[in-house]
Amino acid sequence: MGTLFKNGTIITASDMVKADMLVEGSTISVIGRDINPEGHEVVDCTGKYLMPGGIDVHTHLELPFGGTVSNDDFDTGHKAAAFGGTTAHIDFVIQPKGGSLHDGLNTWRKKASVAQIDYGFHLAVTDLRPEVLDEIPSLVQEGVTSLKLFMAYKNVFQVDDATLFKTMEVAAKHGMIVMVHAENGDVEASLTPRLLAEGKTAPYDHYLSRPREIEGEATNRATVMSGMTGCPLYVVHVTCEPAVQAIQRGRAAGIPVMGESCTQYFFLTAKKHLGAPGFEGAKYICSPPIRTEHDHGVLWQAIRDGSLQHVSTDHCNFWFEGGKGPWQDWMQKYNGGNWVEYEAQDPSYRRPGKELGKGNFAKIPNGMPGLEERMMVMWEHGVNKGRLSPQKFVELMCTNPAKIFGMYPKKGTLSVGADADIVVWDPNHKHVLSVETTHMRTDYIVYEGMEVTGKPVKVYQRGIKLVDGEQWLGHNGGGQFIHRHPNAPVL
Ligand code: URP
Ligand code: ZN
Ligand code: ZN
Repeated sequence: MGTLFKNGTIITASDMVKADMLVEGSTISVIGRDINPEGHEVVDCTGKYLMPGGIDVHTHLELPFGGTVSNDDFDTGHKAAAFGGTTAHIDFVIQPKGGSLHDGLNTWRKKASVAQIDYGFHLAVTDLRPEVLDEIPSLVQEGVTSLKLFMAYKNVFQVDDATLFKTMEVAAKHGMIVMVHAENGDVEASLTPRLLAEGKTAPYDHYLSRPREIEGEATNRATVMSGMTGCPLYVVHVTCEPAVQAIQRGRAAGIPVMGESCTQYFFLTAKKHLGAPGFEGAKYICSPPIRTEHDHGVLWQAIRDGSLQHVSTDHCNFWFEGGKGPWQDWMQKYNGGNWVEYEAQDPSYRRPGKELGKGNFAKIPNGMPGLEERMMVMWEHGVNKGRLSPQKFVELMCTNPAKIFGMYPKKGTLSVGADADIVVWDPNHKHVLSVETTHMRTDYIVYEGMEVTGKPVKVYQRGIKLVDGEQWLGHNGGGQFIHRHPNAPVL
């Protein structure tokens, strides 16, 4: 017996057609008209759209960062993702300084033991010793085909240009892709103490410490190295015109450079959100920072014309008001690797969050929630507002990330033989986004009060129903590691 999705409209990156779809086992077995329902469980999809499960290639679940650990883990983050229509993501493993890439990978594998949806790993190189360079090719056999380098966060994650260049050379040889956080961390590290010394310590001043020029410069520098090494480059969280232009110049010159932006960069502005009264702006601190309405327009154009290929979230959320309960004990245990589910012990407990940076913007943990809302917000402001066709929406949110990161056609599309990761989308469902209804572990969302029309009403992963309305049907360990293939296409 299979599951027959009847009378829906199937949306892929290329088509939008009324058809039935049969799932047998974990994959799609037939797509066609009037499939005989006999012997199958029928899901009536009249008036609904069927889309591939969303893919988000930029998340930070349970990331130790900024003196604390990001809130959502592979349990809470996964449920929130699926309620929002995302069924697969790629998280960033961080190589511990002095340790190996596999040390980082093993740590993240433990975190992922509770997975509820499918996931992959990128590996962030922080300490490129000769033995680490030699370790890179072995990642491919383990299904990890992408490396990440931070050009910012000096003395934390930042690497120098030699590291970036050498990593690209090795990655290119082994069919891997290199991703960069492109901001000139040395310039930022010069500006920040100067601002603080001038008494500029508020959330808005974080924006002044990371001007768009340093993003454009770093994007250009990485693009030049991509051209020299032939290594495919993917620039994460692009926020502004100089960075988009650097990518466009590279692409026009035949350099294999691609990029993404993240939902928040299409909606939030430094003036309104970082400049909100009091400490409120801390909610919106991320790096690179949110920018201006002009940059929003540039980003919409860039995803429409293919200069950028994906919209991710960079989900990395911290409490706005954290640090409640015996968190010092918890941090000590966490850092010692003796992990306890601190907030699960007592819901009034909270690990530290944004309040760490009261009086000093440089100490505000960087990042914000968004994993759950990505598909709904981009549908509302992309498709409903006429900026994106439904097919382009699927291309950006599902298909392109699967192609670029070696998961296609198993993931990212609805076709015979593909994993049955299916979102039943109600295009008429109106609701208001709110922290009151989110499934993320957070005390705020950045789209509070936004009205959206269109919502996932049922979500399936490999043929198994995870979400039915407000009901969660998944289980810990139900999510599987996605073994990705090298030599993925450059789009
Ligand atoms: O502010 C951000 N973006 N936090 C997460 C880490 C990163 O840079 O992606
Ligand atoms: Zn980053
Ligand atoms: Zn990130």
